Parts: sequence; C-alpha cells; structure tokens
Amino acid sequence: MKAKIIGTGYELPVYEADNQYLSTLVETSDEWIRERTGIGKRRLAKEETTTSLATGAAKKALLKANVKAEEIELLIVATITSDTETPSTACRVQAELGAVHAVAFDINAACSGFLYAIHIAESFIRSGIYKKALLIGAETLSKLVDWTDRGTCVLFGDGAGAAVLAASEDGGVLAQSVGSNGEKWDVLSCMGRAINNPVHKGEKELGYLKMNGQDVFKFAVRTVPMCIEDALLKADVKAEEIDLFLLHQANQRIIQSVAKRLKQPEEKFPMNIERCANTSAASLPILLAQMEEEGRLHRGEKLVLSGFGAGLTWGACVLEW
Ligand code: COA
Repeated sequence: MKAKIIGTGYELPVYEADNQYLSTLVETSDEWIRERTGIGKRRLAKEETTTSLATGAAKKALLKANVKAEEIELLIVATITSDTETPSTACRVQAELGAVHAVAFDINAACSGFLYAIHIAESFIRSGIYKKALLIGAETLSKLVDWTDRGTCVLFGDGAGAAVLAASEDGGVLAQSVGSNGEKWDVLSCMGRAINNPVHKGEKELGYLKMNGQDVFKFAVRTVPMCIEDALLKADVKAEEIDLFLLHQANQRIIQSVAKRLKQPEEKFPMNIERCANTSAASLPILLAQMEEEGRLHRGEKLVLSGFGAGLTWGACVLEW
C-alpha cells in the first residue's frame, strides 16, 4: 500500500511586513534582501498562534481531501515554535478539530520537519497500521528571531501548511532519502531554557535564533542535490521525468543552485519565497497547498519535495501526485 497526498491547505497570518518595514528596524534595504535571498515580504503573527495557524491549515486540507477529522488516525505537527512546551501543538490541534481517533504528537526537525513527518507517516501507512494521516508544518518563527540581528531577522516568516496522507493502490510516495548530522548542530540553533532549579541557578534569558549563514548556504547547495539524487535513484526515476521540484523556501539562490546542479530548468522549481519568506517546517506544505489551489498540480505527475535545515537535517521525497 502506498501513501498518497489527497488534500492540502495553508493558513497565513494577516499582517504583512515588507522589506521596507524591516529597514526601519535594522540597517538593511529591500535591494540587499531581494538580491541575497529573493524575499520581498513575510507574514508575521499578531493574534495568530502556531496552534491557530495549524488548525486553519488542517481544516482546509481535510475539506479538500473530503475527509472528516474523526477519520484521522495519525496527526503529526512539525514545528520548533509550539505555543506550549507541553502539551504538543498536535494535541491542541486534535482538540480543535475533534480528531478524536488520532494519535497526535509533534516532531522537531526544523525546516526538514514536513519531510520527516512524511517519512514517519508513510512508514505507518505502508505497513498497514494506519490508513489516514494528517501532517502539518506550522511555525511562528517571529518569536524566536532576534529583531536586532539583520543577518537573521530578514529571512523568516510565520504560517502553516497541511496535507492529508491516505493509503492508496496507485500513486503516492515512491521513495525517500532522509538524513541528519548532529555534529553541526551549532550552525543554526536556538537555545531553550537553561537549567534553573533549587540546586543550580542558570541563565534567566531565553535564547534567540543564531546562524552561520554561509555554512548553512554551503551545506544546502551540497546536500540537497545529493539527497534528491539518492531519492530519485531509489525510485528509479530520472530527474528529467520529474515535473516539479518543490524545495524548502530558504533562499532563491540556493534553489537556483540546486536546479543547476541537477541540470534541470528553473521553471520546474516553483517559489513563493518572495511573498512568504522562510517559514521553516511550514514552507513546503504552504508551497504545495498554494500550488494545488492555483491548479498547478495534476494527478499522475511526478514531484520531488525536499527540505533542509537546523540539526543539521535534510530530506527528499519522490512522489506521484
Ligand atoms: N542587510 C544588509 N546587510 C547585511 C544584512 C542585511 N539584512 N545581513 C548581513 N549583512 C551584511 C553583513 O554584515 C556583511 O557585511 P560586511 O561585509 O560589512 O561584514 C555583508 O552583508 C555580507 O554578509 P554575508 O553573511 O557574507 O552575506 P551572504 O551573501 O552570505 O548572505 C545570507 C547572507 C544569510 C542571506 C546567506 O548566507 C544565506 O541565505 N544563507 C543561508 C541561510 C538560510 O537559508 N538559513 C535557513 C536555512 S533553513
């Protein structure tokens, strides 16, 4: 049995902050941000939360898939910005949806989170344990960003995307290639609470996102083509046979470099980075849902999804839509 995406949805915060607005906060410019990243604007949460964005995206995906919340057996939220340390965002979304029969949990694989969620859910579906899964990537990265650090604050945005994965005889996930390298954890990190208890007084301040941009850039342009090629090999599909490559929206130049390394035309690599920026685990499902909404995905077409990010983590998935 294969695991097939049968419906997608996305939800973005209402407030839109363009590059011009960021230039009032830090020394930067629209020209610099666009040239180095391809980003023009991003949505920032005001009243929205990770849970509300995730729930909004999930409701739309369920509607599109024509699946009731009670039919969902597995509910995974990929996020690094849960509203609560515990319970998981997944449990709170479960309650909002009334997905009473689902086992619900979060996973933390940063910007590769949605790929990791597919990796987990596909295994459950292929083995026959579950038939229907709801996968959500949801983030309010804006609360982890240091808004005085121009090297990071211009890159990120908030949002959520969701997909319903169901057991299917035809189409669906053909192969995956997923990996991690914990030795490089400090290339992109955000410290959590320090130890602070009756026997040890730790730091009071909470951490913000810290990144070595050039190291992340080099990692991405080397690793993403490699894992895509590995997934293609496993699926016995050639790059030329792929209709669309949907990559994590971190940087336009990274995506262009991957296209070049795979010797594929840039037109096969749709982007929404100009208007959404990098929404971490939400980026791939938002892009996927926007593509479906715009009628740009057709049954039978072959797609590659690929994500990469903190951990370091990465993943690619070949699927038939
Ligand atoms: N506006 C204006 N200038 C900026 C700036 C900003 N927002 N951010 C950095 N600069 C400056 C730097 O201070 C540096 O100035 P200096 O030469 O006077 O020291 C100069 O621009 C070049 O900085 P550098 O870091 O070398 O730029 P870059 O070409 O590597 O681009 C990134 C920076 C962050 C855009 C790029 O490294 C990148 O996109 N990396 C990948 C990050 C990523 O995708 N992370 C998420 C992965 S999931």
